[in-house]
Amino acid sequence: MSKLTKVSFAALSPVTSGVAVLLSGEDLAFGPTATDMLASLSGGLEKVAKIAGFTGKKGTSLDLIAPAGLELDRLIVLGVGKAADLDQDAWVKLGGTLQGILASAKVPAATLVFDAFDDETVSAECAASMVMGAKLRSYDFDTYKIKSAPKEAPVKVKLTLAVADPKAAKNAWNTCDGISDGVVLARTLVNEPPNVLGPVEFAKAASDLSSLGVDVEILTEKEMKKLKMGALMAVAQGSVRPPRLAIMKWNGGKKGDAPLAFVGKGVVFDTGGISIKPGASMDEMKGDMGGAAAVTGLMKALASRKAKVNAIGVIGLVENMPDGNAYRPGDILTAMSGETIEVLNTDAEGRLVLADALWYTQERFKPAFMIDLATLTGAVIIALGNLNAGLFTNTDELAERLDKAGKLSGEHVWRLPLSAGYDKLIDTPNADVKNTGGRTAGSITAAQFLQRFTNDVPWVHLDIAGTAFGAPKDEINQGWASGYGVRLLDRLVSEYYEA
Ligand code: BES
Ligand code: MN
Ligand code: ZN
Repeated sequence: MSKLTKVSFAALSPVTSGVAVLLSGEDLAFGPTATDMLASLSGGLEKVAKIAGFTGKKGTSLDLIAPAGLELDRLIVLGVGKAADLDQDAWVKLGGTLQGILASAKVPAATLVFDAFDDETVSAECAASMVMGAKLRSYDFDTYKIKSAPKEAPVKVKLTLAVADPKAAKNAWNTCDGISDGVVLARTLVNEPPNVLGPVEFAKAASDLSSLGVDVEILTEKEMKKLKMGALMAVAQGSVRPPRLAIMKWNGGKKGDAPLAFVGKGVVFDTGGISIKPGASMDEMKGDMGGAAAVTGLMKALASRKAKVNAIGVIGLVENMPDGNAYRPGDILTAMSGETIEVLNTDAEGRLVLADALWYTQERFKPAFMIDLATLTGAVIIALGNLNAGLFTNTDELAERLDKAGKLSGEHVWRLPLSAGYDKLIDTPNADVKNTGGRTAGSITAAQFLQRFTNDVPWVHLDIAGTAFGAPKDEINQGWASGYGVRLLDRLVSEYYEA
């Protein structure tokens, strides 16, 4: 393992000692500073590149140890392909790839010569994106590796970026660093074991954001009872650990501007309750608070980078357990909205938590929009796998904006339908609505259920059951939890809602 421990920025000039990283465009195209350095390489780069089959293709690399003619320990050449065509996501991934190379070569310090562009602004942002990728790649959840810790300590990597405008790059990095901190927090919350992270402990983690200027309020059972949150509380009643509702407020925008609201499912562990889940992989249900983790991580990102926006994060925190006092299939609950819900399956608990969290959010805050995130259905994994979150909305403009933000951030969404026909599937003779549809269209009927608690405010539901955890390792994530949603929503905010 390796940890990125220090990042600094310097003026663009040839690197004369230690480890240098150069960026190669297609067909070994280099910027002026890299070209200058390569002029001293005895024999030139062409021969080596030819033998190694290196052409500068994006994500490929060459590693020259003690390159003759240069006073360097090592010269790493990283292919970026056509630099002008790369979007932010591509630069982030390249940064991850670079961190992977530095880690496996056990390089303690390297200077990246970032001279791929003439435009200094573009350059600064792309450089910062690369560092974000390196930081995300170097994340490791090793809190509980005590006695079995690897004999070798993780390599500490110091990265220096030589860029045209170091000050601009440093500023861009400050922003990206804040976003990365949000992703790291979301990942850690999801990775933490369920015995350690219950509703109370999660609420504490939300409260900790107050040090960044986030205003945090925690509702306990007493207040929830008063508010008549009968759906959320029913899920919680089988657990000895009491529920919490955490409200995080970031007021970085104009006073009086309606806030953007983000609502998260925070089931700290989902056994299924009385409709108990099969044993295989049940441990993964420690990640059933991935929506709440993303909302908390987003609030951290927005506060860290001092986003010019008013935003609210609301997370419903419960544990779903089977117990003598647990709620049952057949129970009829009354939600805060006054709507009655017949429970057909206690494993469809996330929508009950969100029913009250959504209703509360729109009623109290009158937001410009509400976006909820939830590891809501196994069905969305069947439909979309790990590569897209399912998106449902009553507002086309939000779908378009999230689609764009998804492409820019690399956290993709795919829209699925809502319609009156599907809504019929959750009608029941015994109450206003039931908490499961039939076997078909499981993600859609779950979304239809949520829609009944939105009071028609502009709303998006993101089903992140496939994207929050368990995706294959990639350039920027080598662990289980991804932190999905933080970069997507931060990008949505910065692209469309900041002054
Ligand atoms: N938390 C699960 C959904 C889930 C499954 C998330 C796998 C991540 C990975 C949710 O509470 C659930 O159990 N959903 C049921 C709903 C069904 C009972 C209608 C499901 O998807 O099977
Ligand atoms: Mn469940
Ligand atoms: Zn669940």
